[in-house]
Amino acid sequence: MVLELVIRIVIWCVQLIIEIIYIPIFFLRLFKTPKKCPPIKNDLLLIRASELARRIRKNQISSVAVVQAYISRINEVNSLINAVIENRFPEALEDARRADDIVLHSGLNEEQLSEKYPLLGVPITIKGSIAVAGLNHGAGRVDYQEKAKRDAVAVQKAKEAGAVVLLISNIPELCLNWETTNKLIGTTANPYNTTRTPGGSSGGEASLLACGASLMGIGSDICGSVRLPAHFCGVWGHKPTPYVISTVGHRPDGLNKKRWCNYFTFGPMTRYATDLRLLLSTIAEPNMKSMLELHQSVDVKKIKLYYIQDLNCFHAKNFNKNVVTAFEKVVAHFDVVCQLECTKVTIPLMRNCAQLCFLSLLDVGKLNGMCEGEQIFEIFKFLTGQSKQAFNTVSLYMLRSVVPTVLSKFMKQVSRNLDKLRDDFIKILGDDGVFILPSHCSEAPYHNNVYRTVFDTAYLTIFNALGFPATNCPVMFSPDGLPVGIQVVAAPNLDRLTLCVAEEIERAFGGWKFT
Ligand SMILES: *[C@@H]1O[C@H](CO)[C@@H](O)[C@H](O)[C@H]1NC(C)=O
Repeated sequence: MVLELVIRIVIWCVQLIIEIIYIPIFFLRLFKTPKKCPPIKNDLLLIRASELARRIRKNQISSVAVVQAYISRINEVNSLINAVIENRFPEALEDARRADDIVLHSGLNEEQLSEKYPLLGVPITIKGSIAVAGLNHGAGRVDYQEKAKRDAVAVQKAKEAGAVVLLISNIPELCLNWETTNKLIGTTANPYNTTRTPGGSSGGEASLLACGASLMGIGSDICGSVRLPAHFCGVWGHKPTPYVISTVGHRPDGLNKKRWCNYFTFGPMTRYATDLRLLLSTIAEPNMKSMLELHQSVDVKKIKLYYIQDLNCFHAKNFNKNVVTAFEKVVAHFDVVCQLECTKVTIPLMRNCAQLCFLSLLDVGKLNGMCEGEQIFEIFKFLTGQSKQAFNTVSLYMLRSVVPTVLSKFMKQVSRNLDKLRDDFIKILGDDGVFILPSHCSEAPYHNNVYRTVFDTAYLTIFNALGFPATNCPVMFSPDGLPVGIQVVAAPNLDRLTLCVAEEIERAFGGWKFT
């Protein structure tokens, strides 16, 4: 009880400081003109990946034409959204030419092609923290320039399946932010309204997807980093069960592999719900893929739906009207149209766990890619204005040097609570249930505003701490023209359930749109 009071006071103080810092940011914003990316004119950009792969295999569309269309679109929008760290357009066109060659000259028939190269000729973009051979792999830091020597395992799998890598997209420094800004490239904007953030840390990916400058991408998620930007940008983002996709080739990377990989996953991000399954099954580890039975068809009418309207955390903001509307629309759809019974659940333990999962995340151990050795020195440099690192990185150094030590006894209780919560959830969900809950308290806020609702990211982070698969699904647009999504969560290894519900939501509500 005393502890809860202390946490409350600390959180209130943090929120007060954030509001004070926010005042000049508010006034600066008034001088910015809101813009929106121009509409998509080329119909080649509007074909879903599964369909595009089929037409390329049939030699109805050339991969070169598709890749050229995407390159033009990226060049058209990037001055507005600033979402690219580095491109490999000349190499991508080479790859596309090779893909077209395989279709014409390999002697494989359509079925064999689809078996061997499920993504043949289809363009893909990769989050900047994931290694793509020859491109920047400095985790968004200015003081740490390095080119990746080889592809991350997931990227290699996508390439082997025939996908054409176009670029690496922008991230916040070391992925340590829910907005996408760094000293290397600058700030990435939301294509629906450039005064808004696309979220983070997979913000570059989400932003490119939203305006039709990418078709599918690989992101990564430790604190909602796939789902939050997907929600803000109206696209599909899936955080799989841990260990489904290899995390080799990511920077930052946890040095304590076990703890890190329990929380941290790569995740597919797409413009069309049905492509999540295609991309996930392409980049998944073979042994995990067979366990997930991704290709087993699921009857949506047999899924049990539970919804949590409120995690009941004392520090979270209330959901705004648009978020509540989107959420109610989805529940009503499954209730009435699919005639599934949606059961409301309240989980008292969630109240404790959501606030504390932050603390448990600080416990992932050392991160590769930070200056671990010189933390104190870096804090000193930051305070005297000499550091080349971001505020968030240095804050994490400070938090990490205090929190685990001061609260080590308490951390054990956190992890016990999480175990109990995981058991409770699994009991409710079984092997045929999903939870539906909001992704965030609002649609995309103005730049630098995610901090004001930073504790609401617990709605996303809790499922990293628990190790459950979760998918962000775009549902509707706010009156201001910003996307609003919801989250679908299932028990571990039941990714196919959240993907099935996502596909139904796309059918019912139309999914991604950019006009
Ligand atoms: C961006 O958002 C602001 C504030 O909601 C709004 O006034 C403006 O019209 C929007 N701009 C566009 C291009 O939608």
